[in-house]
Order: sequence, then structure tokens, then C-alpha cells
Amino acid sequence: MITIKNLWKQYGDTVVLEGINIEVKEGEFVTLVGASGCGKSTFLNMLLGTEAVSKGELLLDGKPIPSEPGADRGIVFQQYSVFPHMTALENVIATRGFQRKGFSGYLFGKKYRQAKVEAIELMEQVGLAHAHDKYPSELSGGMRQRLAIAQALLGKPRILLLDEPFGALDPGIRADMHQLVLKLWREYELTVFMVTHDLHEGFFLGTRLWVFDKMRVDPHAPNAYGANITYDLPVGEIHTGELEKIENDVYPSKVDLRQALSSQQ
Ligand SMILES: Nc1ncnc2c1ncn2[C@@H]1O[C@H](COP(=O)(O)OP(=O)(O)O)[C@@H](O)[C@H]1O
Ligand SMILES: [Mg+2]
Repeated sequence: MITIKNLWKQYGDTVVLEGINIEVKEGEFVTLVGASGCGKSTFLNMLLGTEAVSKGELLLDGKPIPSEPGADRGIVFQQYSVFPHMTALENVIATRGFQRKGFSGYLFGKKYRQAKVEAIELMEQVGLAHAHDKYPSELSGGMRQRLAIAQALLGKPRILLLDEPFGALDPGIRADMHQLVLKLWREYELTVFMVTHDLHEGFFLGTRLWVFDKMRVDPHAPNAYGANITYDLPVGEIHTGELEKIENDVYPSKVDLRQALSSQQ
């Protein structure tokens, strides 16, 4: 589904990502980990279409990813903005309006009714059926992320991008969100890319875990080299208790893995 060939991203003289080659099949759940500032969000934004590719190819079904967001790709950030004066349901419906190119955000007539039916179904899917009429300020952090997920799924995207979506939530709430994401991934047959700084979350949720890290570093020119995907590990529904054993048995290089992530913790 996604083919990446010699992908580079730089801002001026700063190389963020360099020479990435990788493929992703439809239906995979990729979790991305790596030190802060190594380019994970940049990578997600290139998939979304809000960041341009500097060099190389980023293909979706063999064609370059369009350089603007589309209904086939939805994203959830750790913090996101909603309209405070609109109810939860109205916020979801408004998203549909903004997805339409050149549209002011307001839908009328049949389009509005269609968007409303879809929004009500999604609110139920994410566990917010009771919260249609609540305003954003009345929602808990977990409920807000549920709302963000409903917005990202409107328009039936094939690809769901999650950028540390649960980083600000309490552990108990996170566990509920994990179940929700796994359910939606299966039911909507999504291909998911999720950035996390929680290695356990990455091992548990993903079918595949990528570690972003720099393969070479010049101490005199810290921006000269970018990160690449240094580990591509098959994972999935691995619980915390099992993680240590797997690290010991299967990935003897876990020390490197820990080091790559240590600046996150
Ligand atoms: N619009 C931009 N202009 C210049 N530099 C940027 C821009 N966006 C990100 N960067 C830089 O790119 C690097 C990677 O950032 P980011 O993708 O946010 O990292 P991560 O998500 O892994 O923490 C950082 O050094 C950051 O300062
Ligand atoms: Mg980031």
C-alpha cells in the first residue's frame, strides 16, 4: 500500500530524515518510537500531506501522496483544537465540512444530514453516544481524544495517523483507549501509524514497531545527518509481563533499543 524509496526530509541545512526505504501493507499497525526531535511527527505529516518530501518517493498505491490532507487519511494529535462554542456532535459534523476542498466548514441540506448520520454513528463507535450535546470544556481528556478519533475517522479514511494521542492521559484511561483503537483498526480495516514514547504501548498495539534513530552522528555538525528506521520489529498484543522475556530472548540488541529511546524517559 505504501512504498517509500530513498526518502529524505530536510529543513534548510538540517537533515531530519535520510534515505528511508520501507514498505507497508494494507492493514498493518505500525508503531513509531524514537528520541524526541528525530522526525517522527515530520514523517507522519508527510503521510498526511502537510509536509513535502525533500527527496525520494513516498507512494500510496504506487502514486505520490497528494500534497494536501485528504479524506483517505485521518490524524489525531496529542492536543487538538475544537470549536469551543460547538457541541461535540457539531464539532464532528464541522470536520466533514472542512474535509471538502474549498469549503467554508458549513454543510447544508442533504450533505449536512449525511454528515450528521455518519457523525452519530462514529460517536457511538468511540463511546460518546451520551455526549452529543456536551461542549468541549465539559469533556475529560479521554473523552476529548475519543472525539478527536471520531473526527479523524469521518470520511472513512484508509489510513489513521496517531501522533502520541494518549501521551497526556492517565494509565487507566489509556488502557481503555488501547482497546478502542484495536477495535476500530479491525472494524474499519485501517492501516495505522502511531507515534508513541511508551515502548510497552508500541509493543502491545502494533503489528510492527519501528525505531527511528540516527545511524551516523557528527558531533561538530549535529544537523548534518538525519534519522532512519534502525529497527523494524514484528510485534503485537504483547503484554507488559511478556515484554522483558521477549526483549531478552528475541532481541538481544535490546540495549541499543533502550538507548535509542532513553532520551524520551
Ligand atoms: N517546520 C519546520 N521547520 C524547521 N524545522 C522543523 C520544522 N518542523 C520540524 N522541524 C525540526 O525537525 C526535527 C524533527 O521534528 P519532529 O518531527 O517534530 O520530531 P519528533 O516528532 O520525532 O519529536 C526537529 O529538529 C525539529 O526542530
Ligand atoms: Mg513529535
